[in-house]
Amino acid sequence: MNPVAIAEPLRSRWSPSVFDAQHELTDAEITRLLEAAQWAPSSGNRQPWRYVVATRGSAAHRVLVPHLSRGNSGWVPRASVVFLSVVVLGTDGDELKDVLIPAHDVGQASAHLTLQAHAMGLHAHQFGGFDHTAVAAGLGIPDDARVLAGIAVGVRGNPEEVPERDAERDQRARSRRPLAETAYDDRWDHPWPGLAPSGPTTAEQG
Ligand SMILES: Cc1cc2nc3c(=O)[nH]c(=O)nc-3n(C[C@H](O)[C@H](O)[C@H](O)COP(=O)(O)O)c2cc1C
Repeated sequence: MNPVAIAEPLRSRWSPSVFDAQHELTDAEITRLLEAAQWAPSSGNRQPWRYVVATRGSAAHRVLVPHLSRGNSGWVPRASVVFLSVVVLGTDGDELKDVLIPAHDVGQASAHLTLQAHAMGLHAHQFGGFDHTAVAAGLGIPDDARVLAGIAVGVRGNPEEVPERDAERDQRARSRRPLAETAYDDRWDHPWPGLAPSGPTTAEQG
């Protein structure tokens, strides 16, 4: 059990790598997950996110799977659905406005989707290990947009049904950098002095 005292469903979220390859999500459940992303905040309410919905066995899934990295090729295809996040870039000629802020907003929308999944009793595992160029080409993503990441969603499967390497990933302890290395005062690298004693920086899975 994770002893960190943050709110649910943040507290018990984690990224499993063993999904049940038989489980399917209903269209209504998938829509609910997309609604969670839909209601994320964004700069100027521009909502620069798009999601390709790749249910297991769908045409979009068949585009993605051959381009997964070796480490992701075992576990990702078993998930019930993969959402591929895509950012629509701006046209202001300013990196901050065109690229960085939109990418920030898509990441935030994806976090909302991920947490909604957990609140619905599902699990989500985001991943970036795939050939982005090949997937974008295969899906007809236009030049003013970029594929960012995948979010594999489903329910946990039986570790005995998957290669040992994938099963072992779920046993790894989770860890985080201490907050003093994250929260700074008026100088870079200078820890914010108000930090109260906080929870542990390692946690068990699930
Ligand atoms: C943008 C992004 C890319 C990621 N890429 C991969 C990946 O390619 N393969 C993988 O197994 N996990 C990937 N992860 C999952 C992280 O490794 C995982 O979230 C991190 O180790 C923390 O574990 P936790 O989610 O259980 O807290 C990615 C996560 C994010 C947000």
